[in-house]
Amino acid sequence: MLPATSLVPVTCALLADCLAFDHLAAGGSVERRREMSEAAEHGRMRVAVANGDTAGYSVVAPWFFDAPFLALLDVKSAMRGQGIGSRLLEDFEQAHGPRVLTSTNLSNARMQRLLRHRQWAPCGMLTGLDEGDPEIFFTKQL
Ligand SMILES: CC(C)(COP(=O)(O)OP(=O)(O)OC[C@H]1O[C@@H](n2cnc3c(N)ncnc32)[C@H](O)[C@@H]1OP(=O)(O)O)[C@@H](O)C(=O)NCCC(=O)NCCS
Repeated sequence: MLPATSLVPVTCALLADCLAFDHLAAGGSVERRREMSEAAEHGRMRVAVANGDTAGYSVVAPWFFDAPFLALLDVKSAMRGQGIGSRLLEDFEQAHGPRVLTSTNLSNARMQRLLRHRQWAPCGMLTGLDEGDPEIFFTKQL
């Protein structure tokens, strides 16, 4: 049974939950904590709440060649595989357009399956960011 999921604007309490389950933020990454906190402060972060539990979040980048760029998407590890990432993507698509962009590592098969599942198409590759693991860009026309 799918969890009842709401997509809501971030609050201080929700941000604290997201900082606690995001792997990098919880591991003490100052850059990730700053990126998430600035996104929350500037209204660029959305949160998925499933059955009353903070389940995931998305962040839109402040600027990327004038197209909304999904910069971060993360679902709490215990809640993955239940359609929450898909709901966050759908929410992002509904809020932005007419063309949206994102990227993920070549090694991230799950994110790529999710993007293809929602009809995002690969549109380019960038090497040199993560050693041996190119960044694959995806786009969707809305
Ligand atoms: C990538 C990520 C966001 C996907 O989130 P998720 O909530 O697990 O995504 P979904 O549940 O919507 O889809 C994932 C799986 O569930 C399946 N699924 C999607 N909708 C579903 C539904 N309504 N009911 C049941 N299963 C569903 C998909 O087929 C997919 O299965 P597969 O991976 O075995 O092919 C999550 O794994 C994550 O947070 N990873 C770490 C961070 C990350 O990699 N972020 C993206 C890179 S920038």
